[in-house]
Parts: sequence; structure tokens; C-alpha cells
Amino acid sequence: MKGLILAGGSGTRLRPITHTANKHLIPIANKPILFYGIETLKEAGIKDIGIILGENDPEAVKNAVGDGSGFGINVTYIYQGEPKGLAHAVSCAEEFIGDESFVMYLGDNLLKKGINELVADFKKNNHDAVIALCKVKNPQQFGVAEMDHNRVVRLVEKPGNPKSDLALVGVYVFKPVIFDSIRKIKPSLRGELEITDAIQGLLNDGCNVQAHIVKGWWKDTGKPEDLLEANHLILDDIEPLNKAKIEDGVKVHGRVAIGEGTIIKEGSVIRGPISIGSNCSIGPDTYIGPYTSIGNNTVIRRGEIESSIIISDTIIDCGGKIVDSLIGKNSRIISRETLPKGYRFVIGENSEVNI
Ligand code: TTP
Repeated sequence: MKGLILAGGSGTRLRPITHTANKHLIPIANKPILFYGIETLKEAGIKDIGIILGENDPEAVKNAVGDGSGFGINVTYIYQGEPKGLAHAVSCAEEFIGDESFVMYLGDNLLKKGINELVADFKKNNHDAVIALCKVKNPQQFGVAEMDHNRVVRLVEKPGNPKSDLALVGVYVFKPVIFDSIRKIKPSLRGELEITDAIQGLLNDGCNVQAHIVKGWWKDTGKPEDLLEANHLILDDIEPLNKAKIEDGVKVHGRVAIGEGTIIKEGSVIRGPISIGSNCSIGPDTYIGPYTSIGNNTVIRRGEIESSIIISDTIIDCGGKIVDSLIGKNSRIISRETLPKGYRFVIGENSEVNI
């Protein structure tokens, strides 16, 4: 069985971060989202993995993942280019997949319990497809599956009047018959080849499409608030490992993971769960609160930060409290006493500032 991770797309909902970066490389607890997906597939015994790349910084993904040997897998890169939909991305991988079954995994998704059971279910029962589903409170906002016992009968995108609360998670297992189904579909109203249409095609052709309800949490990290929530979920399980140099008078509470070369200066309070990368300087008199991830080479001099992601290489020197924030690479947040008083911004397109 092979794996196919989709890491193309345009990531418009994560602008301005995605103006310059591929969203799959945004770190959650100091690890790129994409790496969680790779590890999930590897844990399920899949070693031959294709990664779909789009127009958004494909080279950065190649540099980060390389040939896969660092993960103990073999990686093949497949260029999709313009994002023409999930089914289009899959069709680009037909040659790579050949006549094997494969797991299709949306590269911006995180699953706490992985996909081992899903893959075992597919292998045992010889289905044409298995789709991962998760119970949600607001099915109107998802693609949902209508069921007859454990068999899927219909897929409906964002139903006004949902007959099911089972949302489609971004993980599927297919036999190569899916490629025939993709060839028969037409672009949807939003101009994309939809994987839901291809699966509906399988159902209409009498193929056996089975559902698999995932255990534990599932998170799609398409929007900034999703990333912050995913950061909470991952930090809840963080392995404590503190390699920081800690000065006198610093208080460290709870589970913290801090990288090599980082210094926590006097009078600072660090309250986990948190993750701080390497070569950072925190303090003096700085508070880093729960559910915060701070990337490498970041300097935080004063003030308080809680429940936020700072990607890396950033300087923060302000007296105030920063909460629920996503801060891109090479940013500066500095408070100055110079006149005239007032907020001064240099921010890019699609930025958001809440004061
Ligand atoms: P989406 O989140 O649906 O799309 P997107 O990543 O372009 O983001 P936005 O809607 O904010 O513009 O994509 C789900 C996953 O599938 C994501 O990991 C990117 C990937 N993808 C592709 O690889 N190719 C595609 O053509 C599309 C649409 C998505």
C-alpha cells in the first residue's frame, strides 16, 4: 500500500502567512504540520509516500522533507501546480500509485489516534474505499456522509438540513478504481474536481465504500483559529524536555519542551504546556503562558504571551499581553516611548490586527 499526502493548494484562509510560506510547514509545537501526517502514515506501515506539491513554495517542502530517509520512508514528489481540486491532485498521482491501493491524506489534517485501525479495516475487508469520518456538532459546515449501518450511501457537501453528523475527515483509502471515477467527473460550481464527487461516483457504480469512525480528536488546520486549537491539542500531550539555560529567580511550572541554546532570563515565569525552540532568549521579567509555541531564534524581552504560535526569528519587546495570536517569521512587535504616541504598523496584505 502507498501513501499520498496532499500539500498543494493555495492556503488563502491563512494569508498573510501563506503569501510567503507553504501552510504545511507552519509549525505546531515546533514541528511542521506536514511532519505529523508523514509520521501518521509511517506508523500505519506505509513507507512509499507521494507528496503533492502546488505553486506555493514547493521547494521549501522538498528542502524540509528531502528524500524521506530522515523519516525512514521513500518520498516521491508530484507536481500538481494550480490547485484544481482534491480529485485533480489525486489524478496527478496515477502513475506513482500504479495498481496499488493507497491512503490519501490531506496534509493540513491532524489525527490524534492516527490511521492504523483505518488501514487494518481496509486490508481485512477488501473494500473499494474506506473513508474516515468524525462526529461533529456543526455538520452544516462540513462534507457529511449519510449512512445505512456502516455503509456509506450518499455524500453531501455542507448540508442545510443534515441527515448525519458524520463529517468527512481528510483521510481516505482507495483501490485504483478511484482513478476511473475521477475521469468521469466534471468540475464543481467552484471550478474544482471534488473527491466527494468521485466517491459518489464509486457509490453510484455499486462499489463498496465503507466508513471508519475515527477515535480521538481530528483537526483540519485551514484557518488561524484552527492552528491555535491544534497547538492546544498537541501541547496537551507534549513530552517535557528542558534544555534551556535558566537564570536565577525564574519560575518554570508544568510540562515544558525547550530547545538547546535557549536562555530564560531572571524574573521570568514559564507556565506549561509550552514548546520553545532553540537559540531563543526569553526575559528578563517575561511571562510565557500555557499553550504557547515559540519557534527558533526568537527574542521576547518584556510582557506576556499566552495561547499563541510564534513561527520563528521574531523579536517581541512590548509591555502588553499577547493572546491567541499567530505571528509569522521575522516579525517585530516593539513598543516605543517616542512621540507622537500611537500605534505604528508595517503590515502586509491580508494581515489582521486586533487592539
Ligand atoms: P483546502 O484547505 O481545501 O484548500 P487550500 O489549502 O487551498 O486552502 P484555502 O481553502 O484556504 O485556500 O485543501 C485541503 C488540503 O488539500 C490542503 O492540505 C491542501 C491540499 N490541496 C491540494 O494539494 N491540491 C488542491 O488542488 C487543493 C484544493 C488542496
